[in-house]
Amino acid sequence: MNSSQPHSLSADQTAREQAHSEVVVAIRDVNFSYAPGERQILSGLSMEFRRGQVVAVMGGSGCGKTTILRLIGGQFTAQSGTVLFEGHDMGKMGSTELMVARRRMGMLFQFGALFTDLSVFENVAFPLREHTDLSEDLLRSLVLMKLNAVGLRGARDLMPSQISGGMARRVALARAIALDPPLIMYDEPFAGLDPISLGITARLIRDLNDALGATSLLVTHDVEETFEIADYVYFIANGSIGAQGTPEELSRSTDPFVRQFLDASPDGPVPFHYPGQSLGEDFGVLVK
Ligand SMILES: Nc1ncnc2c1ncn2[C@@H]1O[C@H](COP(=O)(O)OP(=O)(O)OP(=O)(O)O)[C@@H](O)[C@H]1O
Ligand SMILES: [Mg+2]
Repeated sequence: MNSSQPHSLSADQTAREQAHSEVVVAIRDVNFSYAPGERQILSGLSMEFRRGQVVAVMGGSGCGKTTILRLIGGQFTAQSGTVLFEGHDMGKMGSTELMVARRRMGMLFQFGALFTDLSVFENVAFPLREHTDLSEDLLRSLVLMKLNAVGLRGARDLMPSQISGGMARRVALARAIALDPPLIMYDEPFAGLDPISLGITARLIRDLNDALGATSLLVTHDVEETFEIADYVYFIANGSIGAQGTPEELSRSTDPFVRQFLDASPDGPVPFHYPGQSLGEDFGVLVK
């Protein structure tokens, strides 16, 4: 055995830890509502996403998860607080800077669909054609590499109508990583998948993150799969962080909010109803 191995291993580990500590996205004390006077969606929200990590953002429907992705992508700007991507304030960017920043983000949209009139190959090639001047040869190699990474190199010539839902999700994944983005955001990547495809997709998200040395932000409701692959988890409640920690820490938590999620109980601190008038006011009756 090579005697220098223990040394190089620990140097490697230190380098990895340093790389891990680099903050790719920092959200600091953000307040946000979609329009003046409208309901505040996020209030005093702070979170960090570090290089090399898969970080999950969980929380009830309508709590603002997709909104957080839109703020990071610069589609909307917070009324106060900052959203930094690679140290740059997304809320202060002009259109050129925004375009450059977005090129460094891969996004798998909630209900994200493929372009139905383009083949699997052309779907993945799309961002490369949009954003680069690669030769046709190089582009082909890159697309096939991405399709290979998701196990669908052989499906390159099929049309979206000829592949299953799980396969389509993997093609969308290949498209999201086409430009080798340092940040990949997934909005409900598991929705509607059978348990096998779900497990495969979860594993892929972890493996692609590690292979690319990227940072992945995963919005999802699937506790089990997420806890298998995530380094850190944020639970959103009332516009802010309700709980956070590693999957191990959260699994041990006795916090009623965390338990409601992990045990999938219908009753608990997370309200079922969208905020509005009381039942009594809406129906003009006295409700006890
Ligand atoms: N473009 C918009 N204009 C106004 N309000 C919006 C807009 N998009 C979302 N909202 C509101 O903001 C709140 C948060 O929405 P968001 O889509 O971020 O929730 P979510 O956590 O992603 O929910 P889900 O898990 O159901 O996808 C909701 O109350 C929603 O009605
Ligand atoms: Mg959403």
